[in-house]
Amino acid sequence: MNADSFEKEPASARSDTEPTVTNEAQAPKVQSGLLLLALIGVHRRPSAVPESSRRYRGSDWLETCNLELETSRGAVAEFALPKRRIEMKGKTMLARKRFTVLLVVALLKSAAVWAADTTEPITAILGAQTREIAALREESSGLKERKIMGISFWEGRLAGRRAVIARMSGGKVNAALAATLTVEHFRPSEVIVTGIAGGLNPELKVGDLVIARQTVQHDMVRLQASGIEHRGARHPVSGRRNPVFFEPPARLLEIARRAATQIPFLPIGLEDGGPTSHSVRVVSGIVATGDAFVASDGKRKELRDLLKADAVEMEGAAVAQICFQFGVPCIVIRCLSDTADQTAVEDLEQFADIAAINSARLVYGICKLLAEGEKTPNPKE
Ligand code: ADE
Repeated sequence: MNADSFEKEPASARSDTEPTVTNEAQAPKVQSGLLLLALIGVHRRPSAVPESSRRYRGSDWLETCNLELETSRGAVAEFALPKRRIEMKGKTMLARKRFTVLLVVALLKSAAVWAADTTEPITAILGAQTREIAALREESSGLKERKIMGISFWEGRLAGRRAVIARMSGGKVNAALAATLTVEHFRPSEVIVTGIAGGLNPELKVGDLVIARQTVQHDMVRLQASGIEHRGARHPVSGRRNPVFFEPPARLLEIARRAATQIPFLPIGLEDGGPTSHSVRVVSGIVATGDAFVASDGKRKELRDLLKADAVEMEGAAVAQICFQFGVPCIVIRCLSDTADQTAVEDLEQFADIAAINSARLVYGICKLLAEGEKTPNPKE
């Protein structure tokens, strides 16, 4: 567009078909234009005495007046505004002043909202399956969905805490992708992995919860004739070897333990009287992660013997590795849906929904404590 586009044409030269602002739908556009012009220093030309004309608006005749505006650089724009609106506000100059005040207030308000959003810490919550994040999405308020590389992230508030929730899909690679996008786009102050797992500790039953005090990738190994050696991957930047076991910060672990004492969990019912008879247990333990659904006594024994793992799943330590490499605190919460043995597939089908809810409840409790801690910061920190 050249500068001539801003030159005012004489009113008489305008054709009747020239677009004019005569209906409600167009009025916001005029206001946005005025907003913009007000920002770049517009003043009304003294010669631009409102000139009335009658234009048809929908089913109604509306009296309009033409308003010419000249920018500080001399460019002129012309608008036809409903006259009644201008008359209601008195002189045009007064209307412009009010308009500028409103604009400044609106800008200040948006700046305040933006500042609050960017300075308030946000907790990221990642689950592999829809059911693992469903209860958390339901409990959240003001959720806004944002798709990044096709992955949905729901940002809102959970238990008073600013939170972003995402579904990773299953397995270590998907988990690493979601974790990386989360860290890069939301800069969370902590990442919580939530969901179900297969139990390995014989003292734990379906429905019990494991707060991971350590996570380990059970398939990040060197296989030799002499046996299996677990080794961390090398950090891609520093070249240093990652630890085999990733740990949450003590503060986050403590918050999770505390939350577990405050949350009512759902008992998992078995018809034959199995796990129903015990109340839900929450332990701090070791969660082993690998790209395998474990439904084998042999494998569960191996994971227990080699790693002393309490539960096995397919994402936790992958997220923990990404968080470790980016320096973001991470904790993994799991509720047992099965015991990783021959009946694991059927057990999971039967108990996964309730187990997912129990894990989500604990995450809710963690967010609540984080939100409360934010209001009354620990003086030692
Ligand atoms: N998630 C839930 N149960 C599991 C199992 N048995 N193995 C791996 N991941 C799981």
